Amino acid sequence: MTKAKKLMPVIKWTGSKRSQAETIVSYFPENINTYYEPFLGGGSVMGIANFKKAVCGDICKPLIELWEEIKTRPNDVSKIYEGNWNKLQKIGYTYYYDVRDQFNKNGDPNKFLFLTRTCCNGLIRFNKNGEFNNSFHVTRKGINPKTLNKIIDEWSSRIQNVKFIIGDYRETTKTAKKGDLVYLDPPYFYNKDRYSSDLNYEEFLKFLEDLNKREIKYVLSFDGSRGDKNYNIEIPSNLYKRKFTIKAGNSSVNNVLNQKKEMVFESLYLNW
Ligand SMILES: C[S@@+](CC[C@H](N)C(=O)[O-])C[C@H]1O[C@@H](n2cnc3c(N)ncnc32)[C@H](O)[C@@H]1O
Repeated sequence: MTKAKKLMPVIKWTGSKRSQAETIVSYFPENINTYYEPFLGGGSVMGIANFKKAVCGDICKPLIELWEEIKTRPNDVSKIYEGNWNKLQKIGYTYYYDVRDQFNKNGDPNKFLFLTRTCCNGLIRFNKNGEFNNSFHVTRKGINPKTLNKIIDEWSSRIQNVKFIIGDYRETTKTAKKGDLVYLDPPYFYNKDRYSSDLNYEEFLKFLEDLNKREIKYVLSFDGSRGDKNYNIEIPSNLYKRKFTIKAGNSSVNNVLNQKKEMVFESLYLNW
């Protein structure tokens, strides 16, 4: 496992673990065979962990298709972003909405990248029909293509050993076995509308039980507390061995929506 000093995000993702990725990785065991991350999102932990062999997935199809594009066609991804970015500067905000309409029709991962980089406050938001519905960020230009190009190249070389899977977390981890590590970062149960799918809490607990039976190590990031609110949904104590509290920085969702900063704490559960 090699660590990056400062790794800029290539895919900006709502609920990203970027601010605590280094801390989370410091709890990982040194020697593992395959690293599994079935709730991948923006992959901030995958990027820092950088294991030799990894299987990562997410239920969000254009997201995983974008990861695959960054892995296999980094130059094309950079060029397409540059083309879109230039058109945006020339045509203005209507271009953003054209791209959004097209993305909602064909799910093109490169259009998705452009939207994630130019949408309001970088919030990745889908409506009930699975359509991307955030608006354009009027006061920002979107990341400069030259800067993004370097970030894409850096990530592309780091993810050559990653197998990407579009699907449910159980599908992504079905080949895991003793000696592997599964890192889990499910959507907040109280905040599920911010993601493109729902997650059933009882089924998730059954999954943890199954990992224990299969003697597979897991590290689980879970609901924490924010300001004076405690969002902690407990994980039954028979399902894990150790629990740590991690300082996760300020809440970006709250910053954006309420203009106020609250310190966020998250729990980390380990089953060994
Ligand atoms: C909290 S985010 C992960 C953020 C990620 N750790 C990062 O640093 O960017 C949770 C992710 O779980 C995905 N997800 C939701 N339900 C899922 C399911 N049933 N199976 C797999 N992924 C799911 C969402 O699309 C979202 O990307």
